Amino acid sequence: MSSNSIRFHLRERTAEMHARLDSSIGGFETREAYRRYLPGMLAFREAAEDAVMNAEYPAWFGDWRPCRIAPALRADLRDLGMDAPEAPYRRHDLGHALENAAALLGTLYVLEGSALGARLLFGRAKELGLDEKFGARHLALQTQDRESWRNFVNIMERAGQELEKEELDRDEAGNASLLAFALAERRLTKELSKDLAKKA
Ligand code: HEM
Repeated sequence: MSSNSIRFHLRERTAEMHARLDSSIGGFETREAYRRYLPGMLAFREAAEDAVMNAEYPAWFGDWRPCRIAPALRADLRDLGMDAPEAPYRRHDLGHALENAAALLGTLYVLEGSALGARLLFGRAKELGLDEKFGARHLALQTQDRESWRNFVNIMERAGQELEKEELDRDEAGNASLLAFALAERRLTKELSKDLAKKA
């Protein structure tokens, strides 16, 4: 099995959900559209980051750990004069990610992979006059830290060796990625519907 196969497996399994999320977030044509995306993304990332930060990391992760993006998201909301609940979002249904290396990998794939799309989104946010110091801090953070994705790709390669030894279950990783995408989708939809209700 090629060492890259876990990444391609996860990409394939989540392609449809990614496309759906991508189209529901849309193109940030206006600041208003960007503002609508922020609360859902915060609600997703804060809880999901909390889940993976508290997980146990197997030795093949080395000393790599994910970076938190959520604090920068909170700052972006503040920049744009938006309220966020004081208490951090902690509720999630990703508990499995704390228990199982395959599920941890699948969950992290979604959190880390989103940095690739962030490059594109950062370009759009800049066109709206936002940047790393105001309003688009989280996208800047994700875009600037290219090392982190490269390191995570190396971890996926090491995970490939674990797969070969049957120490890791590919389907379990895929299920976890789908659950993480589903959480992102639910949080975005929920926050969007609150926003619409406020305007009604
Ligand atoms: C409008 C919103 C989004 C757009 C336009 C977008 C776009 C992209 C693009 C273009 C890539 C591929 C980049 C490359 O191969 O260099 C990518 C990768 C990825 N994105 Fe997104 N994305 C968006 C939102 C998200 C969100 C919210 C998440 C997760 C919650 C996410 C998760 C991922 C993952 C996991 C990958 C890695 C796929 C791989 O293995 O190559 N994306 N995205």
